[in-house]
Amino acid sequence: MGPVLLASALVCAFVLSVIGCHPAQKNEQMVTEILPFDTGWAFHLGELDSIKILNNATLKAGSLENDWQKVRLPHDWSILGKFDGSNPAGNQGGALPGGVGWYHKVFSLTGNDSLKNIFIRFDGVYRYSKVWINGHFVGERPNGFISFEYNLKPYLYFDGRKNVLVVRVDNSQQPNSRWYSGSGINRDVWLIKRGSLFINPEESYFYGTVTGGENAGRKFDSSAVANGHKGFLHEHLVLNGQLLSLKSVEIAIRILDAKGGQVAEKIENWQPMKTGGVYTIDGDLGLNKVKLWSPDNPYLYTLQVEVTQDGAIVDRYHQSVGFRYFNFEATSGFYLNGVPTKIKGVCLHSDFGVLGTAYNHSAMLRQLKLLKQMGCNAIRTAHNPPAPDILDLCDSMGFLVMDEAFDMWAKKKTKYDYSRDFNNWHKKDLEDQIKRDRRHPSVFMWSIGNEIREQFDTSGIRITKELVHIVKSLDTTRPVLSAMTETHADKNNIAKSGVLDVLGFNYKIDQYDSLPINFPGASFVASETASALETRGVYTHVPKDSIVYMPSGPKEKYSENMNGDWTVSAYDKVAAYWGTTHEDAWRAVKNRPFIAGTFVWTGIDYLGEPVPYPYPARSSYYGIIDQSGLVKDVYYFYQSQWSDTPVLHLLPHWNWSNGQMVDVWCYYNQADSVSLLLNGQPLGTRYKGDGNKGDNEFHVSWKVPFAPGILKAVAYLGGKVIRETEVQTAGAPSHIKVKVDTAEYRGNSGDLCYLTISLADSAGNLVPDQDKLLHFTISGQAKIVGVNNGYQAELRSFQSDEYPTWKGKCVVVVCPEKKAGSFDLKVEGDGIAGKDIQVDFGH
Ligand code: GAL
Repeated sequence: MGPVLLASALVCAFVLSVIGCHPAQKNEQMVTEILPFDTGWAFHLGELDSIKILNNATLKAGSLENDWQKVRLPHDWSILGKFDGSNPAGNQGGALPGGVGWYHKVFSLTGNDSLKNIFIRFDGVYRYSKVWINGHFVGERPNGFISFEYNLKPYLYFDGRKNVLVVRVDNSQQPNSRWYSGSGINRDVWLIKRGSLFINPEESYFYGTVTGGENAGRKFDSSAVANGHKGFLHEHLVLNGQLLSLKSVEIAIRILDAKGGQVAEKIENWQPMKTGGVYTIDGDLGLNKVKLWSPDNPYLYTLQVEVTQDGAIVDRYHQSVGFRYFNFEATSGFYLNGVPTKIKGVCLHSDFGVLGTAYNHSAMLRQLKLLKQMGCNAIRTAHNPPAPDILDLCDSMGFLVMDEAFDMWAKKKTKYDYSRDFNNWHKKDLEDQIKRDRRHPSVFMWSIGNEIREQFDTSGIRITKELVHIVKSLDTTRPVLSAMTETHADKNNIAKSGVLDVLGFNYKIDQYDSLPINFPGASFVASETASALETRGVYTHVPKDSIVYMPSGPKEKYSENMNGDWTVSAYDKVAAYWGTTHEDAWRAVKNRPFIAGTFVWTGIDYLGEPVPYPYPARSSYYGIIDQSGLVKDVYYFYQSQWSDTPVLHLLPHWNWSNGQMVDVWCYYNQADSVSLLLNGQPLGTRYKGDGNKGDNEFHVSWKVPFAPGILKAVAYLGGKVIRETEVQTAGAPSHIKVKVDTAEYRGNSGDLCYLTISLADSAGNLVPDQDKLLHFTISGQAKIVGVNNGYQAELRSFQSDEYPTWKGKCVVVVCPEKKAGSFDLKVEGDGIAGKDIQVDFGH
């Protein structure tokens, strides 16, 4: 079918100002501009009188009174507070304060801007935001995770007077979240200038499909593989506003390949019948031998749309487009581009340790790189819409995304949570999420909710139907699921609705085999797995053959303090009672083709939910990676199973008391066997699955009486040594080592550098068992954002200039203040040689 051009000038229902005639050649300047609006903000912590603040002359003049401080967005004020068990969020919410905060920003616009439509866009504000421009209220948004936009035009000054934008954020009613949410304008803000007629990016929808398919479900197409897949770009272009005349309008749609070469073009002429309105234009553009998008090869094309009238460009739009097809099969799982693909995913909350929930592109990039190297191919945005930039990263880095909407519907989980707003806001929130995110090739399923209480209530049937209807009215190309816990069909009202495309089940691995019987013909994904618990670098000896559950069952709120210091052993043997070890959780999914894949709880430790302990524990134990970005040992288990990277990882460290029996574990892949030697003495060779007590197909182990020295693992393949690794007994800390990571620093404002600090003995070995309080001084063109060590019960503020190592390590996060330059970091500690290091960035 050839492209269709369908111009429907709907009744002028929009409220944009109509702009008078101006010369056509000026139209080039009317092209949409999306301007970062993160700098120049002022912040006040605590309540203010709104009448006074909106009429405050000093504030209007742009000078700051004492109780306001300059801030750069994204900003989270809670992370700057003190950890305290009596904060109303509780330790489940990270034990940090909430409260009310006010922001304002003063800015000027020019006379030229008066010809444009001016919008303000917030990627997300936690929570209950209210926005005023020049004293006029423009809108409010309870949901702390959704993006929203307001039209500021009617109230702006373009005559040299200053414009004052004021935002009130209210996170005072707590608890309102089961994890740390942060407080404030914690995602980016944009000022958007649009011409009189503009491409509406939310209402427009461009996406790629393959081999003629409109929808997702396509099986392996062998003829397409032989001849090249045919891609289709589907276009739904929505123009809003006011045309300058009734002259014909040209719409050019171009697709560029990853190198920037044009591979397809379509130019249509459209004769408008009236000047004002909402215009929708639909069509298709075919592409022969399209390169497919996948996590292994995230090939992206660029779509460019250009609208021209009378020789002048009216507006432009561009986005990435990926072409991929996929389907879920009831018996055999998930297929991506026709290839059976296990979903190897992790759930992620949205905090960045020292930054709290203040969104940071480079911090996210660092997290995703680590996960990518582990072999992870999917992310679940638990349990809310993500910062939009995350989806751009997932598109370009190659992650499938389960884009989740809600953690609760009308029935609450915590006293002041979103259930209070669900009835009034769920439709708008869900619609806005789908419209914002549906253009991303990485997004492959929508989750309408996590462990929603309405599973157990008949209202679940009605609400599920309504939410699925909302999603499908905006996107029919992706399956909708809900992450559920009730595995009995007759008791699960969400599944009973009959409208979900895929059923997500959290935990309950012992019931996996009953799922196809209880829900005949359904497709399944393990939407949440493991909830295993670990503290990096802690090797408490837990029985080899059993799992320790903490807490042990529903009657126990908190567990006994395992080691007296709120830590949990990092041997993969401890889990919350509803979960299981990483190994058991993965085995259950790996061995069942009908389970499409897994989303491990969680990829990275997060603030809040420190199961199994009460305060002072304040962050989670679930992560494969700790909060500072240092990996726990299970990282190598996943890497050995999920990636092609050769793995040989030995644990624990080798600092024990003489004669002490130590469990030594080894994760490996791409080898037949591993031999262990202590100071050159062989301690035996192990083959995965050789029946050695406590071993399995995922790791091998030895019981070794400790003697100081070198513990070495040697991996063999076909009788040949292919890899070796060792751990060495360390002496007392003598000096500091610094590993500099500036890879995520791209010279953009807010980009970060990461410096991993280690305590080393005189021979240079990591000291894993004697921590030190270190003092940090920075000079040069950068400042320290915070220090973190991944220890879940560390109560010192991340922003302190003194911070202890944990198991010999900590990570200093530095924010350069220039595009390129250098800074000096001095690290000092009692009784050890300090370190002064110069770091060049942006070169
Ligand atoms: C799940 C829940 C997650 C998290 C996890 C901890 O039931 O969906 O949000 O709370 O438990 O184990």
